[in-house]
Amino acid sequence: MHRKRIKTDLLVHDLKGPLAVIETGITSLLQRREKYGPLTEKQEQALARTLRNTKVIQSLVNDILELGRSREGVVSLKNLKFSDLIEQALVEIFDLVDRNTSEKIKICADLPQLRETLEEKGLMLFMEEALWCQEVCLDEAKIRQILRNLLINALKYRKSRVELEVDKKDVYLVFSVKDDGEGIPAIYHKKIFESYFQMDVTDSYTVRGHGLGLAGVMILVEDMGGELFLESDKGKGAKFLVKLPL
Ligand SMILES: Nc1ncnc2c1ncn2[C@@H]1O[C@H](COP(=O)(O)OP(=O)(O)OP(=O)(O)O)[C@@H](O)[C@H]1O
Ligand SMILES: [Mg+2]
Repeated sequence: MHRKRIKTDLLVHDLKGPLAVIETGITSLLQRREKYGPLTEKQEQALARTLRNTKVIQSLVNDILELGRSREGVVSLKNLKFSDLIEQALVEIFDLVDRNTSEKIKICADLPQLRETLEEKGLMLFMEEALWCQEVCLDEAKIRQILRNLLINALKYRKSRVELEVDKKDVYLVFSVKDDGEGIPAIYHKKIFESYFQMDVTDSYTVRGHGLGLAGVMILVEDMGGELFLESDKGKGAKFLVKLPL
């Protein structure tokens, strides 16, 4: 590996320590009042917000390291249940965009309940009950990263509705993320997978994007031996479909 890359990865890696200290400190203040003293409502809110965002940085740091690992071609397979995979990915996403919903997702007992919670937020989940309970052998961190990036984009660019469909076809896991937003004109279908490319640079969202998400998704999908398809046109929403060998 290039020396400069190793040094950058090490810098990112070393952010993990201090971040863990911050996270533990805030969690203690919030959860161990008998030891650390009472909090006013405003203090509690501020701390909760700080904790939430510390977790966001932690997950970003993990993402950077995970991408590095992927570049080296390391795939770490693990048996896991679809239900856990999907639920955890959704909690991570809603922690970033809507914390109340992420709390609700955590306590969902089954697929119908989860569906209902998501529907309230305009996110439709299409998946068979039988698959939901099934175990698969996958690289969990990578799949979660892919899902997170596609879903966050869809939630960002939709008008009102996002559809997540998960299916198993023969020896492939196929999932798609579809939104009803402005869509992507055909001339950009290659470009959007290039690092730092964004169609609309006057990004008005609170957390500014960098045009890196889809470039990363493409690398992860390729590393797992999968394929990524995009169906979209101007004014017609966008559908990203990922097909991974199991
Ligand atoms: N679902 C979508 N609908 C419309 N345009 C999209 C969609 N997803 C991605 N794009 C376009 O592709 C560009 C690249 O997406 P990508 O996820 O790589 O970057 P980003 O979301 O802008 O920033 P980042 O993911 O780095 O935070 C976006 O800036 C946007 O112009
Ligand atoms: Mg993105």
